[in-house]
Amino acid sequence: MAKVKITETVLRDGQQSLIATRMSTQDMIPILETMDQAGYHAIEMWGGATFDSCLRFLDEDPWERLRTIRKHVKNTKLQMLLRGQNLLGYKHYADDVVDEFVNKAVGNGIDIIRTFDALNDPRNLEASFKAIKKYGAHAQAAISYTVSPVHTDETFVKLAKEMVQMGADSICIKDMSGLLNPYGTFLLVKALKEAVRVPIEIHTHATSGLGAMTLLKAIEAGADIVDTAISPFAEGTSQPATEPLAFALKGTKWDPKLDMDKLNEIADHFRPLREKCIESGLLSTKVMGVDINTLKYQVPGGMLSNLVSQLKQQNALDKFEEVLKEVPRVREDMGFPPLVTPSSQIVGTQAVLNVVLGERYKMCTSELKQLVKGMYGRTAVPISEEIYKKVVGAGEPVTCRPADLIDPELENIKKDYAEWVQQDEDVLTAAMFPKQAVDFFKSRREKECGIDLNLVDQENMVYPV
Ligand code: CO
Repeated sequence: MAKVKITETVLRDGQQSLIATRMSTQDMIPILETMDQAGYHAIEMWGGATFDSCLRFLDEDPWERLRTIRKHVKNTKLQMLLRGQNLLGYKHYADDVVDEFVNKAVGNGIDIIRTFDALNDPRNLEASFKAIKKYGAHAQAAISYTVSPVHTDETFVKLAKEMVQMGADSICIKDMSGLLNPYGTFLLVKALKEAVRVPIEIHTHATSGLGAMTLLKAIEAGADIVDTAISPFAEGTSQPATEPLAFALKGTKWDPKLDMDKLNEIADHFRPLREKCIESGLLSTKVMGVDINTLKYQVPGGMLSNLVSQLKQQNALDKFEEVLKEVPRVREDMGFPPLVTPSSQIVGTQAVLNVVLGERYKMCTSELKQLVKGMYGRTAVPISEEIYKKVVGAGEPVTCRPADLIDPELENIKKDYAEWVQQDEDVLTAAMFPKQAVDFFKSRREKECGIDLNLVDQENMVYPV
């Protein structure tokens, strides 16, 4: 068995899980070259939330961040997380947009693209895989891990085999809710290693306190790569910490051979930022400790806080327990989707509606209707006719690959945003985050010309060039 490889997540999931993805590129730059020399297999640094946050909160061009990191990280692979046909957004895009996005992501420096689908429907990964291969990056297929009466190790092994047949260069078990436990993971990794020849990577969260134990057992079972975060942005709802795992494996056959001095330097760099985030309240004790309830409710941490805020808006916080019981029922009705963006939002919102209105499916969101209709893809088990009638009514469900129903859209988006586009990448930014993109483009132009464009008459807007 070879040494285990480490993917460092501080620049993406680590900061996303603890400080709502508010780390700026300036916070990263001074330490990037040290990170490049630490011996990591890869640095995860881009994804839906980092992209969104750059535009929405940080007034940064996410593409510029990618180029900056690439400039400083010359040897270590750069990795991103992609939501399959949803790219970095919340809906399916046409195949031509998927192709162009992957083209630009790889062109600007991404080496590894970890692609997942909220329903684990491999058809939703097809277009991304094709593009990733075409532009020469590493196609990692992520299985959204979940626990349900219909999900077994065999389910995940079967899916892994299918993904390898589709061209996956490696498989990741993506445990976004922190549900994996050490001994279960040991058996799952063993089964995967027997079934497929590509490298197996484990991604978990330390929420329940099991994270580091889980990774250790995964490594013993033969996992090739594990995800960790440097200690100031590790543990709690983030990944297990990098340094203790590196120490635990020192001198064993799995030794990842990380440079401990460099790890110390990296931790020293991020520690003051952690302190600053605690002082400002951005980093809250709620996400820092051990929360064993995550195993009981089996919902991601972010989803719990969403439910609380939705109930608060309805003045129905007293119904929280009831909603928590309704979530698994809605999930069962929906064919047991893993709870990850966007299925977690769809199931959670419907559970709130069912409880607050006192009648199940009296009102349904349009997203739930689309899910039941098959427009997000195939669920783990088919949705019953009864639920279909109640939610959608008459009509036939969609059974083809959902993106086959979407006409090419890239040229239209190019036309719609022509006035703002300064680089090809802007078209993709606008496709995925139309509102945030325009706000960002405006601010970019303001900086260039020194005029507050909000003062300009919106109807007859004339832009100084
Ligand atoms: Co994660």
